[in-house]
Amino acid sequence: MSISEPLQPIRKKIRLDSPFTDQKPGTSGLRKSTKQFSEPNYLESFIEAILRTLPGVNQGVLVIGGDGRYGNKQAIDVILRMAAAHGLRHAITTTGGILSTPAASNLIRYRKAIGGIILSASHNPGGENGDFGVKVNGANGGPAPESFTEQVYSCTKILEDYAIVDSSSISLDLPGQYSIGSMTIEVLDGIEDYISLMERLFDFDLIRSALKKGFPIVFDAMHAVTGGYATRLFEDCLGAPKGTVLNGLPLEDFGGGHPDPNLTYAKELADLLLNTDSYCFGAACDGDGDRNMILGQGCFVNPSDSLAILTANAKIVPAYSKGLVGVARSMPTSSAVDIVAKDLKIDCFETPTGWKFFGNLLDSDRITLCGEESFGTGSNHVREKDGLWAVLFWLQILAQKQCTVADLMSQHWSKYGRHYYSRHDYEDIPIDVAHDLYGRLELMLPKLVGQEFAGQTVKTTDNFSYVDPIDGSIASNQGLRIILDDGSRVVVRLSGTGTKGATLRIYLERYEHSNGNLRQHSQKALEPLIIGIDALAEITQRTGLERPTVIT
Ligand code: G1P
Ligand code: ZN
Repeated sequence: MSISEPLQPIRKKIRLDSPFTDQKPGTSGLRKSTKQFSEPNYLESFIEAILRTLPGVNQGVLVIGGDGRYGNKQAIDVILRMAAAHGLRHAITTTGGILSTPAASNLIRYRKAIGGIILSASHNPGGENGDFGVKVNGANGGPAPESFTEQVYSCTKILEDYAIVDSSSISLDLPGQYSIGSMTIEVLDGIEDYISLMERLFDFDLIRSALKKGFPIVFDAMHAVTGGYATRLFEDCLGAPKGTVLNGLPLEDFGGGHPDPNLTYAKELADLLLNTDSYCFGAACDGDGDRNMILGQGCFVNPSDSLAILTANAKIVPAYSKGLVGVARSMPTSSAVDIVAKDLKIDCFETPTGWKFFGNLLDSDRITLCGEESFGTGSNHVREKDGLWAVLFWLQILAQKQCTVADLMSQHWSKYGRHYYSRHDYEDIPIDVAHDLYGRLELMLPKLVGQEFAGQTVKTTDNFSYVDPIDGSIASNQGLRIILDDGSRVVVRLSGTGTKGATLRIYLERYEHSNGNLRQHSQKALEPLIIGIDALAEITQRTGLERPTVIT
């Protein structure tokens, strides 16, 4: 079917005064309330800035999709019409507009697109009263680098109009081919290519037979983008019984939930694993499918430990059977993976928070696996973190070793020691309170060295900065670190992805060699650090919050 269109794009005047200048450039895009995005010309102005900045737009191929939240389909309609007005040759989108972030990364790479526009506010709630977001990925399939985001923001400040073609909406109900003016549009099933990629990486037969032998698993899609992917993967391809995928229907408001797979927001799943013996393995992904949480019976896997365990067992997975070239973790992630990397004699890089910092290392083959404490793990198969990939990786290891999650963790800790780890988030605090607290602590840092803190002596303190080993770019002011004599540390950061007030993140870590007593609760093991940082940074006093909003 072809829709005939006027060849001349319509130029519309922009009414807003530089609406994006307050956006922190942490998300390779724009994340705001749905209400804000519904303002006239708001989405359009940001898309205009992207299309003016993205290299190769003229005659290029663009991937467009999203996590299914409220506004997803309408935004795809706008972007398609604007893409046609900007001279793109071909646009690829998906049925229902549903495309997970890792699946988008894969599509961009293998269809050799100039990049992609992903409509998602990741793990933030959706719906009319929730959040919406626009993320831009480059030709390598990864989040656009900071330099690109800055160019886009500069462009939004001088925009006076945007170009769009007036045409009726393309149907996203079924796969098909369309066109708007001279731009062709392909609506494809956003799940198939991703499943094929997973089949090439993992041994599905082995996982299938392990599940068949009586290893009940459960997956919580949190009414977000992974519902269709997970049902096809676990129930159709791997033979898990119907009902293995909970909350599998993507909903525009995620069923009113907060699609962030952690112990607070995925409580239904956590209760099933931690308080019943119905399942041996449980997992969940976030709104756009790039995060993962792994649980065993009676056991929660800390994401930092997860990265270390995947690294230690990577050779079990066909795609990594030859070993890893190196690994990377974000700075606040625990150093559990560092010890494994040392043992494997491979490089381990420490990067700032945010997936985009892994891009150069992956592109230049310096690392194979990478991860963040914020439930993100991935590899060189795409340029985004990948929730379902991590779940399959875990299942592959468990199928091969024929052991439980708890056994695997114990074995790992007895070999490498344990990094007790926790992140405490204080959400939605007034922005000035957060900045004052952070600024005051930063000023105190030099004086802390040599002082007593949490029963230890402070060895070093700094505000983390990173020089990219590939292109030499510098990222500074990436988080305050207090490192103690015994290697324990506290990191303090302000979130770059929140949309309401400020979020203060406190990362706590303490290492213990294997001594047979590694079953302590992490909050207990970290107590001196928790008390110490609260007193030092005056967290309770300044925020008025008696306890963190979320503890992971
Ligand atoms: C958070 C996480 C970070 C992750 C980002 C995007 O950013 O902490 O690791 O890369 O979301 O998923 P933050 O809000 O801390 O800036
Ligand atoms: Zn996400």
